Amino acid sequence: MPAKKVCIVGSGNWGSAIAKIIGHNVRASNRFDPVVNMWVYEEMIDGRKLTEIINTEHENVKYLPNHKLPANVVAIPELVDAVKGAKVLVFVVPHQFIAKLCDQMKNHLGEGTIGISLIKGISEGPDGLKLVSDIIREKLELDVSVLMGANIANEVAEEKFCESTIGARNEANGQIFKELLQTPNFRITVVMDSDTVELCGALKNIVAVAAGFSDGFGLGDNTKAAVIRLGMMEMVAFARLFLGESVCSETFLESCGVADLITTCYGGRNRRVAEAFVKTSKSITELEAEMLNGQKLQGPQTSADVYNVLQKKDMVNKFPLFAAVYQICFEGRLAKEIITCLQNHPEHM
Ligand SMILES: NC(=O)c1ccc[n+]([C@@H]2O[C@H](COP(=O)([O-])OP(=O)(O)OC[C@H]3O[C@@H](n4cnc5c(N)ncnc54)[C@H](O)[C@@H]3O)[C@@H](O)[C@H]2O)c1
Repeated sequence: MPAKKVCIVGSGNWGSAIAKIIGHNVRASNRFDPVVNMWVYEEMIDGRKLTEIINTEHENVKYLPNHKLPANVVAIPELVDAVKGAKVLVFVVPHQFIAKLCDQMKNHLGEGTIGISLIKGISEGPDGLKLVSDIIREKLELDVSVLMGANIANEVAEEKFCESTIGARNEANGQIFKELLQTPNFRITVVMDSDTVELCGALKNIVAVAAGFSDGFGLGDNTKAAVIRLGMMEMVAFARLFLGESVCSETFLESCGVADLITTCYGGRNRRVAEAFVKTSKSITELEAEMLNGQKLQGPQTSADVYNVLQKKDMVNKFPLFAAVYQICFEGRLAKEIITCLQNHPEHM
């Protein structure tokens, strides 16, 4: 079998951390081509192109500073050039960009290409919910796995131990991605409940915003634990509503479920910006621009996507925490109403 060429589509904070792992792993395996392409959304940093900086200094100085990328990871600004000849695609861009990028690469992929999405978010389709992996499947006609987990990028880049979950539809492809991505400090479990894995990754960002509101009011750890528990109940109920019988309860106990929810409600940018939202009264958009240096927030946008999907099903009232996050972020509902939302939340769903 010829060695498979890998292309990483995206190079933000998580894209760069995962490039570090992939660059090392392809060298240790004869399944993969030893040179990895990384598509980089070009931008100028102090008068120099980001791709040029990455290819000479082997560091993504904007999105993952102070970490060297392996020299066999090559930054490429043109998407079509980056995916040329690739048989393995790793999608890791903020979810709002994925559809357009798929359209650009559509006619440039070879037979037998497979993909994995590390993207956390959802979209809307004519029948309601649409997963990001579904957008990729439909536009590019690939088998797509997903990887989600308690994986704050900077900690992964520092090689601190964590776990992650691959959700696969094709088990053999799930194992190929495990070989590409696993390290002793990045331990991966492959499960066949791909859609639930992906939904967990998207929905936990909404709960993290609620946790940030709670922190903004100085409510303490017990309150945050309540946010986490009630948020998890809404995640499970949402998954059951949209994925039906296929949802496997054990998936919520994988890293993509409870572990990612906990880490995002304590660390992570969604929690941090939501805390500042309460403390400063600035808008989410202002805080994103001020606090994140080009990184994108996922939680508020996902709350809006989820709210739209729920409205179409006339189910907004069944998800009071998700709805409150959206209404506080975008509709002027008072942030302190997160407390009444918790007080009145059904104990069980
Ligand atoms: N950062 C984490 O800790 C982490 C962990 C797990 C999963 N994720 C998920 O990974 C995905 C990617 O996040 P990230 O942290 O790598 O990105 P990021 O938020 O750090 O960076 C934003 C990226 O978007 C790019 N960009 C800006 N404008 C663009 C445009 N018009 N078109 C295309 N790209 C554009 C930027 O160049 C940059 O690479 C998200 O879905 C996120 O939820 C992130």
